[in-house]
Amino acid sequence: MVLLSPPPGAKGAGVNSLHLVIRNALVATASDTFPCDIGIRDGRIALLGAGLPAGDREIDARGRTVTPGGVDAHCHLDQPMDGPARMADDFITGTRSAACGGTTTVIPFAAQAKGQSLAAAVQDYHARAEGKAAVDYAFHLIVSDPTPRVLAQELPALIARGYTSFKVYMTYDDLKLDDGQMLDVLDVARQHGAMAMVHAENADCIAWLTKRLEAAGRTAPRWHAQARPMLVEREATHRAIALSQLVDVPILIVHVSGREAIEQIRWARAQGLQVFAETCPQYLFLTAEDLGIDDSYHGARCICSPPPRDKGNQEVIWNGLADGLFTVFSSDHAPFTYEGEHGKKPGGEEVAFRHIPNGIPGLETRLPLLYSEGVLGGRITLQKFVELTATNPAKAYGLHPGKGTIAVGSDADLVVWDERELVLRNEQLHHAVDYTPYAGMRLKAWPGLTLSRGEVVWDGQSFTGRAGHGRFLPCGQPSLLPRRA
Ligand code: URP
Ligand code: ZN
Ligand code: ZN
Repeated sequence: MVLLSPPPGAKGAGVNSLHLVIRNALVATASDTFPCDIGIRDGRIALLGAGLPAGDREIDARGRTVTPGGVDAHCHLDQPMDGPARMADDFITGTRSAACGGTTTVIPFAAQAKGQSLAAAVQDYHARAEGKAAVDYAFHLIVSDPTPRVLAQELPALIARGYTSFKVYMTYDDLKLDDGQMLDVLDVARQHGAMAMVHAENADCIAWLTKRLEAAGRTAPRWHAQARPMLVEREATHRAIALSQLVDVPILIVHVSGREAIEQIRWARAQGLQVFAETCPQYLFLTAEDLGIDDSYHGARCICSPPPRDKGNQEVIWNGLADGLFTVFSSDHAPFTYEGEHGKKPGGEEVAFRHIPNGIPGLETRLPLLYSEGVLGGRITLQKFVELTATNPAKAYGLHPGKGTIAVGSDADLVVWDERELVLRNEQLHHAVDYTPYAGMRLKAWPGLTLSRGEVVWDGQSFTGRAGHGRFLPCGQPSLLPRRA
């Protein structure tokens, strides 16, 4: 437990007094680890140093590691869906869950439906978030219908207003773009300095394989992985890289699952191309066997796209995290319940894999999993952990240095780590999903305290934040991209 106490001999608040001092922290940034007190005023870090003056309130970190609050740059909350599927987490439950797992900034997606104006999608998404978030949030856009008006007017206007990143899909019938559309959208990213995120899987290969599997009666959840083998990801990754090269614009390939896509990204980097990459916990901790080794429906819980691969590919992903191949580590939290009518059993029925909503929950477990298995497991340094989970996502999407670091002037978004053994259970999580794919895993750490702009939102036992504390963050130009004049 972290002690919250008035400081000895506190004099009361003056205009320049510190509102909160975190004493005896072992501060970790993407570049250094150093012992330090952290002085906070008006929600921002005002002073860093030894022996800071007394604050109105004090927390003794007792030498524990303090990292920047996590920035989860890929999560889905209350995203409008067709049909019976409905996301279990809205901005209330999703951001509460984020806070309890040490994440203090989330970037979900304002998704354009085909035929819809992009501006209308953004307006609708603001209405879904307004007054509900417990931590700060920004929006990526999803561009699914790049009409001439969207390309010439809406997208540039939204980029100028702080929506500086967007995702495009090469698969899913309701979202996918063809190559010509991808080129048009990438060209807008180049002209206006936005970050383009790409979901790289070959839609036609998946459709062809799915038809063949269904014709053979192979419809159980485990066949989802067979319908999306690594080559469909490899081919689309290669094509996305080629399209970005043609347009001469950087891209970020999201949720990279294994060796074949990684080989394409390494090849692109060797050519000097700016290709960034993201991976997610499911590719470190799950395999295709979690989708089932027989025809039972249970594996529907782990259906996501691209699917988890095998142990060998998990090792390749770990290596990519350690050696700089990956820029960001996100959850891709896509929350659907297992039971009920709106999740993995649409209409309450066990259905063929192609009809099972894709995605797994992970907002709350992203940081503890990587800290436990990566940092304490000796696979990545503490600096790499901070870079992947906070600093780089803030830079990639134009939120740094306000977010993603511990520095004077940055928001006081902080995590104090408790290094203790625990066995993960869904009951201890704060999302609205009825399972976690990581149940039963033994972890070595969990956030003991999370602060969002100087407010304690998780005290190690309970959620102590409030819906409405979280603010919308307009994003600046991604600082991983070359500066625009
Ligand atoms: O299966 C996944 N990843 N679902 C979420 C949507 C997406 O493509 O990221
Ligand atoms: Zn995706
Ligand atoms: Zn996603």
